[in-house]
Amino acid sequence: RTPLVIDTDPGIDDAVALLLAANSPEVDLVAVTTVFGNVGPEVTTANALRVLRLIGREDVPVAAGADRPLVHALVHRAEGWHGQDGLGGQSGLLPEAVRSPEPIRAVEQLATVLRGAELPVTIAAIGPLTNIALLLGSYPELKPRIGRLVVMGGAFSGGNTTATSEFNIWSDPEAARRVLVEEDVPTTLVPLDLTLRCALDGPWLASLAAGGGAGETLAKVVEHYRNRYREFYGEDGVALHDALAVLEAARPGTLRTTPLPVDVLCDLGPARGATIADRRLNASGRRVDVALDADLDAVRALVLDRLRGGA
Ligand code: BDR
Ligand code: CA
Repeated sequence: RTPLVIDTDPGIDDAVALLLAANSPEVDLVAVTTVFGNVGPEVTTANALRVLRLIGREDVPVAAGADRPLVHALVHRAEGWHGQDGLGGQSGLLPEAVRSPEPIRAVEQLATVLRGAELPVTIAAIGPLTNIALLLGSYPELKPRIGRLVVMGGAFSGGNTTATSEFNIWSDPEAARRVLVEEDVPTTLVPLDLTLRCALDGPWLASLAAGGGAGETLAKVVEHYRNRYREFYGEDGVALHDALAVLEAARPGTLRTTPLPVDVLCDLGPARGATIADRRLNASGRRVDVALDADLDAVRALVLDRLRGGA
């Protein structure tokens, strides 16, 4: 089984993604690292611990990472989407964390996993890319041990945080630029363009709840997210962005990707955090595999099946 580390900022869809990873037989969830993002770093770390307890994976170490972006001050979080507690005001439905995070920081935890793994490691990065940028800059010799980096982030036709920019990239564009443009680790990018097309509706959530167990608890947490989606987009359908990235991390090729050079705008203007893909056939530069399509019905069914505990 492929060793998998999830770098995350739980976060409602992050919580769902952790359950999906735990229920995916192709991967062995060996560590979780946390980053600031949807809420502050203490809360994302506490939530990661709570979710792992909920899903019966207290064996998985959790290490806390960056509490702010690489260069500029943190100016905004996503409490509106995820609630002050990062779990839609429903964190009380999850067990209190009884463990503490590891005594080492996220970057050291990632380095420890990479050094010790017998197989190439997949990293699923489903929050701002700060920890990953720090890892690649701090331990360049470990890069060959990363089999694949799967990133949830980016938007090529309109953002969710500003008109142009997706939340994870916007939260730390300098880190994203380093990871997506300057580094050369094999990378798959799962952007908003695809995740928004894979929205999940009321009947889907009802089936998740009907399966009982951790899926039922998380279905209640997702309800808050669904209400925000309804207000924001005027339709019933919630996008579980991070779960799609983790599905692709577990089952490479589930999403259809196109290799494209990608750039990230880091200036302080209105397009800060925007991602640009160069679709010209003669485009030069490093390419990342951008997931722009999938059999969406099959993906919805597979995610549901896995969250309910099927393989
Ligand atoms: C991304 O931003 C966060 O709010 C979600 O958890 C996801 O990782 C979607 O833009
Ligand atoms: Ca996230």
